[in-house]
Amino acid sequence: MRLSRYFLPTLKENPAEAQIVSHRLMLRAGLVRQSAAGIYSWLPLGLAVLKNIEQIIREEQNRAGAVELLMPTIQSADLWRESNRYDDYGKEMLRITDRHDRELLFGPTNEELVTDIFRSAIKSYKDLPLNLYHIQWKFRDEIRPRFGVMRGREFLMKDAYSFDIDKEGARQAYNKMFIAYLRTFACMGLKAIPMAADTGPIGGDMSHEFIVLAETGESEVFCHRDLVAMDPPGADVDYEADLQPMIDDRTRLYAATDELHDEKQFLQIPEADRLTARGIEVGHIFYFGTKYSKAMNAVVTGADGKDVPVEMGSYGIGVSRLVGGIIEASHDDDGIIWPDSVAPFAVGLINLKTGDAETDQACESVYARLTARGVSVLYDDTQERAGAKFSQMDLIGLPWQLIVGPRGLKAGVVELKRRQSGEREEMSIDAAINKLAG
Ligand SMILES: Nc1ncnc2c1ncn2[C@@H]1O[C@H](COP(=O)(O)OP(=O)(O)O)[C@@H](O)[C@H]1O
Ligand SMILES: [Mg+2]
Repeated sequence: MRLSRYFLPTLKENPAEAQIVSHRLMLRAGLVRQSAAGIYSWLPLGLAVLKNIEQIIREEQNRAGAVELLMPTIQSADLWRESNRYDDYGKEMLRITDRHDRELLFGPTNEELVTDIFRSAIKSYKDLPLNLYHIQWKFRDEIRPRFGVMRGREFLMKDAYSFDIDKEGARQAYNKMFIAYLRTFACMGLKAIPMAADTGPIGGDMSHEFIVLAETGESEVFCHRDLVAMDPPGADVDYEADLQPMIDDRTRLYAATDELHDEKQFLQIPEADRLTARGIEVGHIFYFGTKYSKAMNAVVTGADGKDVPVEMGSYGIGVSRLVGGIIEASHDDDGIIWPDSVAPFAVGLINLKTGDAETDQACESVYARLTARGVSVLYDDTQERAGAKFSQMDLIGLPWQLIVGPRGLKAGVVELKRRQSGEREEMSIDAAINKLAG
């Protein structure tokens, strides 16, 4: 992409309305633009990151055996009456009436809709287990939307729903998502710690929030320090094997958000290992048994010929919140530092003297060669001063900067800078291309 043909409205000044660094940087780097309180347009650079995050989530969901579909944003109120949630949900639900006076709503979550799809199609235990997910916009009329996309009103969520014939099946479904989440967040360069969360009237131990530690997080969290250092499961994890030992490994040590915090238990951890911090909830997995299947009559025939309500769980990831979460975890004074896996472009190519024939020609050639080898490049071909180009590139945080100027070209070199470490290296054009495409 040529910057001169792109849409990248960056800001020089810090926007006054932004209280936390990710919100500030998202506005300054031209990732999003607020259209109403808690509602954002995703500008091209932000959209590219959002899509990359989506893709990582999708790959790990698929690997764990979940199946993607797409449910609508607008739902019928009738379904929510069946589960008795239409009135209970309160003011967070955006209610809509159509021209025929039918009551609709903008979905804040999808348990009812997915249960309706399930019950219309699945009748036998032989079709289980099943896990259906989608990546779709949600609307919750949050009383206090804040921190940009972290707590929005309209936000993108991945939500998966598992269906099993019995509780053991549901536990395996839960464990699969637990492992998939550890891998998903690690692929984005994040350390997300699973923490015990409230199970409500269902009880038991099958509700976890995945928390990224950050000073600006909304939740106060308490855990054993060793959890921070734990490595994620590898790509070769066998989802059909018994995952319980892996789950036990991760849940043995104390980890809870303020909601469930038990100070007595926490104090039993040796003081040096106790970690009290703030965190961002990026994911939440939850087993809720037959809550919706009973209310909505979603039954399947078991091996013994008897009908039983299906056992369910739901598994959310805050896709749009993650964009902010990743920035909170990865930035410096100059701007964003994207992990390679989610970066909107891999390389920022900086022409130090646009208009100089030799430099232009070298940049064009590098741009074409990198693009041909599948490397995504944002080529700054504008007339800006070098200094302005450098600071804008640092601000938008692409992992690599390739700097091409007349002086270097005379000596046969270009400069390659790693955004994260600030390390710079001079090398030939061929060496730079091989390094970036290798
Ligand atoms: N208002 C919001 N803005 C952005 N992301 C949100 C919002 N509410 C929830 N999420 C994300 O969606 C995930 C699943 O939501 P859920 O657990 O149902 O919400 P909550 O914890 O608010 O009850 C959360 O873990 C979080 O990452
Ligand atoms: Mg939650």
